[in-house]
Amino acid sequence: MPSSETNDAAFPAILGGTPIRPSGPPDWPPADPALREVLLTLGESGDWGRYHGPYCERLQQQLMDYHDSAHAVLCASGTVAIELALRGLQVGHDDEVILSAYDFKANFQNVLAVGATPVLVDIEPDNWNLAVAGLADAVSSRTKAVIVSHLHGGVVTMSRVTRFAEEYGFPVIEDACQMTGATIEGRRAGTWGDVGVHSFGGSKLLTAGRGGAIISNRDDVVQRIRLYSQRGNEAYPLSEMQAAMIIPQLDQLDVRNARRADNVQVLQDVLERFPGLKIFQNTNHPTESQPAYFKVGLQYDPDQFDGLPREFFTAAMRAEGFAFDQGFRGLHRIHSRRRYRSVGDLQHASAADDGVVVLHHPILLETEQDLRQVSLALDKIRDHATMIQEKASIPTEPLKDST
Ligand SMILES: Cc1ncc(COP(=O)(O)O)c(C=O)c1O
Repeated sequence: MPSSETNDAAFPAILGGTPIRPSGPPDWPPADPALREVLLTLGESGDWGRYHGPYCERLQQQLMDYHDSAHAVLCASGTVAIELALRGLQVGHDDEVILSAYDFKANFQNVLAVGATPVLVDIEPDNWNLAVAGLADAVSSRTKAVIVSHLHGGVVTMSRVTRFAEEYGFPVIEDACQMTGATIEGRRAGTWGDVGVHSFGGSKLLTAGRGGAIISNRDDVVQRIRLYSQRGNEAYPLSEMQAAMIIPQLDQLDVRNARRADNVQVLQDVLERFPGLKIFQNTNHPTESQPAYFKVGLQYDPDQFDGLPREFFTAAMRAEGFAFDQGFRGLHRIHSRRRYRSVGDLQHASAADDGVVVLHHPILLETEQDLRQVSLALDKIRDHATMIQEKASIPTEPLKDST
């Protein structure tokens, strides 16, 4: 390959050209003086080594205030939070739990963990999130709960979900792990269900490396969750140090989420020229919602990139310094048919399994100019799609903390 070509900024970085962002994606979590201050204070006071203390209490109270909820239970992860929610709702053997066929794998696993059967429904064609209309065919005499996740900037119409669930008499778990701070139909994400769940995992909008929280107004459910978790010692704890690190981030959450949403609009504008990449559209959703963006979900159409397979596309974008990745696997495609029941042909979930591309959120706190550079990378990749497919080798290394 001629060196003038490999050095050319218009040549794809995955083939040896100069990346659009030589420094790569922005770090997450970013360096933050407020967090440095917390760490110094904890180091000096020794509070970092305590089981219980004022930071967990304060975070709990702040989460209750933020969500206007009666309870906030801190726990070890979003995954555990979903399991505790199921246990708090007394889901167990012979029960069924409805969820979307395109969802976080652990949600499916948690249903199995409590002895119940997942019932998979299809997703909406525009935002690839749970299709509420599918609930009617999924419900049975064994239905004990529904898990509803808002994924990749797509939102589910919770007023319809809760209306349906009330009619049939089963509770709702709202998985807001990707949506902390979002507004769904005028209410905070996580407050629509009987139980709402957040994650403070390493890549999340509020991070403590690990951690989670359960939001609820139901005294009985929270009581059961506390009883299950309390074994003389707390079985799924969030530490004082983690709580102390989350508090200053919670203070900044709304401002940061607004900035992210503005930058998604910039990205939307940039992508007008690229019909092969379509941001999840909440077309049929009421307007008084503002998604939070942990990932920006996009529908990838290889035909618009000369047949370039999705894994080559994401690898090429990463080489340019943009944290693109493939989405989740469809739950029906990675589990034995014996493990679940499903409704319909799950055609949109299959399309999502094949075609979701996500952009991780850290770049959404950068400048408009940074977002506009995405188009430079896309031009390069579209112009060299055939060559990329023939010559590129794809790194197998996953993105850091990218669940
Ligand atoms: C929708 C959803 N639910 C649950 C989780 C689990 O959260 P955690 O990583 O804290 O276990 C994740 C993590 O990415 C998620 O995306």
